[in-house]
Parts: sequence; structure tokens; C-alpha cells
Amino acid sequence: MPDQSITAAIRGRLLSFHRPPAGPGDFDAVRHHEDGLLLVGADGRILEVGDWADLRGRVPEGVAVDDHGGKLVLPGFIDTHIHFPQTQVIASYGAQLLDWLEKYTFIEEQRFADPVHAAANAAFFMDELLRNGTTTAVVYGSVHPQSVDALFTEAESRGAGLIAGKVMMDRHAPAALTDTAESGYRDGKDLIGRWHGKGRQRYAVTPRFAITSTEAQLEAAGALLREHPGVHMQTHLSENTDEIAEVRRLFPGARDYTDVYDRFGLLGPTSLFGHCIHLSEAEMGRLSESGSVAVFCPTSNLFIGSGLFDLDALSMPQRPVRTALATDVGGGTSYSMLRTAAEAYKVLQLRRQNLPALSALHWMTRGNAEALGMADEIGSLEPGRWADLVVLDPAATPAMRHRMKAVEGNLEEELFIQVTLGDDRSVAATYLRGRNSHLRQSGA
Ligand code: GUN
Ligand code: ZN
Repeated sequence: MPDQSITAAIRGRLLSFHRPPAGPGDFDAVRHHEDGLLLVGADGRILEVGDWADLRGRVPEGVAVDDHGGKLVLPGFIDTHIHFPQTQVIASYGAQLLDWLEKYTFIEEQRFADPVHAAANAAFFMDELLRNGTTTAVVYGSVHPQSVDALFTEAESRGAGLIAGKVMMDRHAPAALTDTAESGYRDGKDLIGRWHGKGRQRYAVTPRFAITSTEAQLEAAGALLREHPGVHMQTHLSENTDEIAEVRRLFPGARDYTDVYDRFGLLGPTSLFGHCIHLSEAEMGRLSESGSVAVFCPTSNLFIGSGLFDLDALSMPQRPVRTALATDVGGGTSYSMLRTAAEAYKVLQLRRQNLPALSALHWMTRGNAEALGMADEIGSLEPGRWADLVVLDPAATPAMRHRMKAVEGNLEEELFIQVTLGDDRSVAATYLRGRNSHLRQSGA
């Protein structure tokens, strides 16, 4: 029986979703308490959510209320695609995908063979996620299993849950950065044994992309997935046109890029495909049929010049593809899911498509939780979910404060301003399991 005693009480403007908003103004999808109180149990899960006036009497003596006044309290943000060994690759100049990998990324990732370097970077990485209000992330390690050990160790010590995996790549990369089909399989299996289901951690089988894995290695990735139901799979798909041409050359027998992964059993409801920009109708059909997830990484797609994600095409009602939103640091240029959503809006504008504020905030929270198959654990402010929270300051900067004055009383407009102008400066506090794990210092 979990401990039902109340150990934390958080007051603020609570905002969460119980289903995807149908469009702008669909506040029926929202659970909103303008002056709300959230009570957290000793196990770090939400016990009760409601109006301050109704619940205030439930706060036990000795438990101080964290009062966030006029700030918004949302479920912590979820980043569904980010590279842990690229914190010193972010903002590398002047290259598209394949050159960018060779010139910057494959150099930097070699440093993660050193467990001391990996541990120091894991601490920085977790600090940065929490400073940005991200409480769950799906993470690529380097090829070295010790990079993933360092990352999981750091996350578990802070009470955060990650989904992460060691990159598998056995060709077309420097020798110091390649494994083999056999060692990739063995190291993956060992990591799953050490970490999958330990505390809040989960494993993702992570073949980097089709160019850097032989058929034997993709086969091994498929075997890991089959042998360990419940683990995720993550890789890159259809990001850049030169990449797609190279995949065609390397896998002449495959129908298309998606089919390369399909042949090895890598599609399915726990599979996350980064980018998915240049897909054919047949590829979207297979992603839909298999329940796979297409992950939109707008700041990366703009920065590396990859292309414009086509949300409407992926969302066709007759064959909807599940979608998620992510930063893709270090191809992406921000750790902030707010900034990421703002860039998603701009990419979709260029496609003559829309992203209302409610949909953006839903995507970053409950939507991404659904994409991970974890909506019963994270992504909404409901009893039983982990009390992972982000507290947003609507007046975090002079420009935001000034703009907000013009929309007083209009929550939707306020939220759109928060999404469009917000970033790490908006994050007043972040909670993991009801415990404050980041508190913004003024001027930080
Ligand atoms: N494709 C293969 N590896 C990578 C990577 O590290 N970043 C991005 N954006 N695309 C990739
Ligand atoms: Zn990526």
C-alpha cells in the first residue's frame, strides 16, 4: 500500500489537459484552477488536485504551502528526442546533416568514452533540463555504455525518469565511435538488465540511423526489442535529402527509408522516429499502421536546414501518424520546450498550418506522455501521476510583462504569449516527485 500521507502542498494557477484540444478555445480539454492546490503523497505522486478554497483544510500541520501566486503550474515538460553527448556541439556553424555529423558530432562524442567526462556532462545535462522545466526526456547516449550509466545514475539520484539508450553504430563513423553488431547487442542487453525498470529509468534501443548500422546490427536491434517487451526504440528517419539518397544506395532492396527499419521489426507503438520530414504516402501509411511515432524537432530542422515537418499530412484522419515534439539538442538550438513550440509554430506557418497555444502546451505535456505510452504516469495533473511540475512566470521578462498587460483576463492569449516569448527565464521552479529541484534565482 503506498504511503497516503501528504508531504507537499503546491498552490498556483493549475493548468493541465485530460484530452487533446480540438482547436483554439477548446477549454473543455483543460483542467484549470485559477487558485488551485495540488497535494503530493510521500511517494512523490499527486494525491489531490482542486481549488485552494476547497482543499486548503487538507494541508497537514507542519507541511508548508509552496505558494506560487499568479504563476502557472503545469505538468513538467517532456522532451522526446535529445542527445546527451551534444551539449558542446549545440550551435556548431555552417553544415547540413551529414557534414555536421562528421565535422562536429562524431568528434565530440568520442570524449564520452571517459566516464569522468560523461559524469560531469550528465550533471550539466540534468541541470539544464530542469532549468528549462523538462522533467522527462528521451535521450541518445554516445556509443559507449558508460555514457548511459553516467546519465541514468545522475537522473535516478535526482528523482527524474529518463528513457535512454546507447547509440548503436557499426559503420561509417570513426573507429573510436563504432561498436559491432555483437557488442552493440551485448552492451544493450547489459544496460537493459542494469537500468530498465530500475527506479524511474527505462531503456530505449538506439540504432543511430540506417547509414551507421549494417543489416546485422539492425537485426540485433530488432532482437533486443523482441526479447525485451516494454523497452522503447529510437532512431532518425527521413531528415535530410542527401541522407535519404545515401540510405537508398546502401539498402537497394528496401522499398524506401521507412522499409529499412520495418524489415528488421523496428516499427511499433514504442518506436520513436526523429524528424520524418520527407516521407512518402506509403511510408506515412506504414508508420500509421504500426502505431509508430514521428518526432518533430523544429529548432534542429531549421538550424541544420533539413526541411519543414508536415503535421497535416501526418495527421490525415484516414491514416493518422502519432506525433511528438522535441528539442534534438545539439542539432536543435534550445533546451527549452517553450522555445521549441514557438519554432514549431513558425515551421507550421510556413506550411500554412496552425499550432494553437492549447495544442502546443498539450503536446509538450500530455501529448508527449501519450506518445511515450506513459500518460498514466506523467504529463497531467491528476491523482496517481508523478508530481513532476513546471512553474511558469507570465511576466518573466520586461517584454512579456508589458505584452501581458494588454491581454489581462484572456487566458488563451496569455498562454500564446508564454509559448511564443517564453524560455528558461519563464521557468520559476521545477519539481520532481513533489520536491523542488530547480528554483530560478532572479537574474539567473
Ligand atoms: N542523424 C543521425 N545522427 C543524428 C544526430 O546526432 N542528430 C541529428 N539531428 N540527426 C542525426
Ligand atoms: Zn537527433
